[in-house]
Amino acid sequence: MKSAGKQTVLLGITGSIAAYKACELVRLYQNAGLNVKVIMTKHAQRLVGAATFRALTGNAVATRLFDDPGNPINHISLAQEADVLVIAPCTANVLNKIAHGVADDLLSTTALATTVPSVLAPAMNAAMLKNPVTQESLRVLEVAGATIVGPGKGYLACGTEDSGRMSSPEEICAATLRVLAQSKSLAGKRVLITAGPTREYLDPVRYISSPSSGKTGFALAHEAAQRGAAVVLISGPTKLLSPLGIEYVPVTTAEQMLEKASEHFDGADIAIFSAAVGDFRPVRRAEQKLKKGEDSSFTFDFSANPDILATLAARRNAARANRPYIVGFAAETEHLLQNAEAKRRAKGADLIIANDVSDPRVGFASDNNRILFVDDAGSEQTELMSKQQLAAIIFDHIQQKL
Ligand code: PMT
Repeated sequence: MKSAGKQTVLLGITGSIAAYKACELVRLYQNAGLNVKVIMTKHAQRLVGAATFRALTGNAVATRLFDDPGNPINHISLAQEADVLVIAPCTANVLNKIAHGVADDLLSTTALATTVPSVLAPAMNAAMLKNPVTQESLRVLEVAGATIVGPGKGYLACGTEDSGRMSSPEEICAATLRVLAQSKSLAGKRVLITAGPTREYLDPVRYISSPSSGKTGFALAHEAAQRGAAVVLISGPTKLLSPLGIEYVPVTTAEQMLEKASEHFDGADIAIFSAAVGDFRPVRRAEQKLKKGEDSSFTFDFSANPDILATLAARRNAARANRPYIVGFAAETEHLLQNAEAKRRAKGADLIIANDVSDPRVGFASDNNRILFVDDAGSEQTELMSKQQLAAIIFDHIQQKL
């Protein structure tokens, strides 16, 4: 169990030559008023002795599963006592293992068992870093909500100047403090998020939809949960796994999404509509699979779907309540600012997040995005970055307005 008072950093140290820099990192954490507990892998102990960290932290250093006779499940206790898990340096081996849920020693088992935010500072040879397997693991971990610090470029132990050098202890400490500051910042708040595409079926096997992957909405849900909010994620069909610790409500059509969003809207403090909702649905859905027949053309009649955001925002305005703070997205291909501002006013949102979906590097289905915040204070453009990083920036922006 967590103890009241100081926050605890659980620092995992792995077998990279940069392990000696973890001593300085411990000092920086202590100067910031944090308690530090250390887990060392077998290989880390070949580079720096556990006694060094025992002396620096004043806490026992954990090195093996089952090495505490009084506590056969010390990986669970360590995971529960921490406020943040930091792995610095994080070798290619450990990074690839934890990205795939391998739990074969104390550190990797603790990483799998913990529910607190994690900060990873990779340190490795440049070829290992550029290996597509490692790049995929970095992506997986980031999507899962880990904060990745670095690595930077510089002199490596293998004698080359290249990418793979662990970030400085100061950078890692600053990232950890940011994560800790955010981690409870939405405690007690309820966040409603719509995500993914909707599907409108023409017959039992064919539908109209959009290329939305759900990545944006899932990243937002994960970020809100990491900040301590109670999150309801209402999503159309996606291939993504539902995030842990979140109330996940799968839906298919726009009407189902409206029904479920309506159930959760009134109690929410923040409502974010990131779903790509189909604006139309076929008036009639064929009971059986449509056959080609003799005709080479088909005609379908469509009717308009409800606008979920506008419908619920009107309900808030009619009730004159202050909550929830409403965020809409705008998928645009031109005139981002003008179109986003027009949507903000027309739909009654407090904030519109516009993205250019004509650029294949951003928007639908990509891992990255670049967004434009548009609210009554003006507009602000972000850099291109991962959707998980953007989720943090989006909540920082929203929380300033609450
Ligand atoms: O899921 P990803 O692959 O990560 O892709 C992310 C995204 C491109 C889907 C996302 O960034 C995005 O832009 N989402 C909004 C897509 C959209 O439908 O935009 P819009 O401009 O058509 O709609 C404006 C707003 O009204 C949106 O908040 C939308 O959720 C909402 N809307 C639209 C139609 C409708 N019938 N009901 C709605 O609530």
